[in-house]
Amino acid sequence: MVRNVRATQVEIEAAVQALRDGELVAFPTETVYGLGANAQNPAAVRKIFEVKGRPADHPVIVHLDSPRYLHRWVRELPEAANRLAESFWPGPLTLVLPRAPHVHDVITGGQDTVAIRVPAHPMAQQLLTAFGGGIAAPSANRYGRISPTRAEHVREEFGDTLRVILDGGECQIGLESTIVACEGEQVRLLRPGSVTAAQIRAVVGELAIGPAVDSPRVPGGGPTHYAPTTPLTIVPAGEIDAQADAASRGGRRVAVLAQRLPLRSHQTVTWINAGRRPESYAHDLYNNLRTLDRAGCQRILVQSIPDGERWDAVRDRLLRAATSIAESDDATGSMAVLP
Ligand code: TXA
Ligand code: MG
Repeated sequence: MVRNVRATQVEIEAAVQALRDGELVAFPTETVYGLGANAQNPAAVRKIFEVKGRPADHPVIVHLDSPRYLHRWVRELPEAANRLAESFWPGPLTLVLPRAPHVHDVITGGQDTVAIRVPAHPMAQQLLTAFGGGIAAPSANRYGRISPTRAEHVREEFGDTLRVILDGGECQIGLESTIVACEGEQVRLLRPGSVTAAQIRAVVGELAIGPAVDSPRVPGGGPTHYAPTTPLTIVPAGEIDAQADAASRGGRRVAVLAQRLPLRSHQTVTWINAGRRPESYAHDLYNNLRTLDRAGCQRILVQSIPDGERWDAVRDRLLRAATSIAESDDATGSMAVLP
């Protein structure tokens, strides 16, 4: 459900003023909520890192209202990037491009590239247009935790630390943008998202998958990312009921994220049926993980999701959130790691 899709003029003015004052503003995008700062003010961008507890060398995405000011941020626009921008902007796609010389190191993490996104959410568009410049924004969560898909998640994360939180309702997509690096001839998928590898290939032809071997920074890199605080185990699809039984023996509380209803009732199990459609599973994923994390359980068991590219983004986030993956004799229930 989409509500409050547009902010009032007063809300936008307050947010723009906060950005001009070097303060942070949380705002909705169609993927997840962002924690934004004036991308031309390095001191303001540094605050993002402080508030999130994020290592200082992690680069952030610069958000623009349209490609019209791209030349201020980007040294050159490879042909493939131009085609991707025309096909998917505004939308859930981030392009990593050769940086313009003045782009500050706090944004790029000292790399020779800068990540740019033109989000489609009407409230993000309102804010960006009214501000008239680039907004540097990672997801509005503490480092390594689950990205927020509702304004209340941002409040849970940061309480009163933020002067402005624009409430644009639930994010339509619910997972972070697809990230594609376009440097020279090569096009490389760095982070899967709702724009799939097949959709990108249809526009640019060849697509390399995964970070380059010599790449210093993997998006969302690090062993646990997008993670709840309760240990999370991925369980072979056919074994979810049995594993829930076993884990709840002796009255232990267990949380389950499945794709169907339980076969029988489990007394101390909190069971969420997230369904079999990748779009709605993705839309609900972070909120479901938050709910299960709050359920007072010792473990979260996640039913292994199907193979196939449509599940790539969900699979990527689940693998990053997982503390362990249960082995199975049943090969069809396994979760292949992205190449
Ligand atoms: O959907 C999204 O992309 C959300 C919304 C708010 O736009 N943003 C988001 O930002 O997910 P963040 O910071 O949580 O993830 C962006 C990822 C980071 O892991 C970072 O490493 C990568 O993008 N990144 C940023 N600049 C990069 C660059 N120049 N080269 C490679 N990776 C880069
Ligand atoms: Mg993030």
